[in-house]
Amino acid sequence: MIHYTSATPVGILGLGFLGKILAAELTAFKESWGTWHEIPPPEPKLQVFHFDWADENSWTNLPETAVTLVLTIPPLLKNPQAETERLQFWGTWMQQNRPQLKRLIYISTTGVYPKRNEIWTENSEFEADTDSGKLRLLTENVLCQYFQLQIIRPGGIYGCGRGIDFRLKAGKPIPLSSTPVHRIHVEDLARIVLHLVKHPESTTCVNAVDHEAKPSWKVARWLIENRDDLTQEMFPENTAKLPGTPQRIISNQRLLELAVTLRYPTFRQGMV
Ligand SMILES: NC(=O)c1ccc[n+]([C@@H]2O[C@H](COP(=O)([O-])OP(=O)(O)OC[C@H]3O[C@@H](n4cnc5c(N)ncnc54)[C@H](OP(=O)(O)O)[C@@H]3O)[C@@H](O)[C@H]2O)c1
Repeated sequence: MIHYTSATPVGILGLGFLGKILAAELTAFKESWGTWHEIPPPEPKLQVFHFDWADENSWTNLPETAVTLVLTIPPLLKNPQAETERLQFWGTWMQQNRPQLKRLIYISTTGVYPKRNEIWTENSEFEADTDSGKLRLLTENVLCQYFQLQIIRPGGIYGCGRGIDFRLKAGKPIPLSSTPVHRIHVEDLARIVLHLVKHPESTTCVNAVDHEAKPSWKVARWLIENRDDLTQEMFPENTAKLPGTPQRIISNQRLLELAVTLRYPTFRQGMV
């Protein structure tokens, strides 16, 4: 548990996979809250209420006292123009009706970076080359017009029931590609979020990826060699010639500079 001062309550928009782990770190702070969308959480760790990002009528549920918002909800509309207008409408509503909620940490994705062999940093100049990446970049760009924004771009989020180990056990396919997958354990991602909550001046954008990116098949092989509960039969595929971009690297230099110590520096610690 990280210790925060009562000056930094948090409002989590979306109590999904990350939101729930984050909420568990905030139990000491009565002013912190989280929102649910489809189903109320059975045993909420903090104050919760319904919020539908798509429904203006539910926005008035947002408390008026200052918190740092953490937005975990993915883009809602696939059409870039419609999503831009939706975000602008929400941003304007927030400025007019919740001026106390100025700070926002947006959970974006490393999927904004092109699928090309290159070392990508937060300062790289690029255009996204997938529809989902374009929507995320657009979201980052619109939100910064309305909020004091900090952006976190996580790689694949794993841990607490998700990851290649769970896929192997469930008999699900393992992606066959030579592209390194950049990962972050969900508990470490929550710690990075809380670091930014506590240090608004620290950075405006940070890649949240651990210290060892590897293609999924290599992680699967390593797991089978190192865990007694996983067997060769779970992943018999031939991995001789795989498509992909083996030199597509997402830098975590800035994360290192923030000095957030990762509890799970690589999948080798996070999946044992
Ligand atoms: N998982 C990964 O590997 C990964 C990697 C990089 C980035 N990301 C992104 O990081 C963020 C957090 O990831 P996650 O795994 O925690 O995602 P998640 O489990 O899917 O959580 C997203 C949350 O958003 C809520 N939500 C969806 N539509 C909503 C709406 N219209 N109004 C209000 N709430 C709504 C969902 O509630 P309901 O379920 O009730 O609809 C859910 O609680 C997401 O944006 C995700 O796309 C994920």
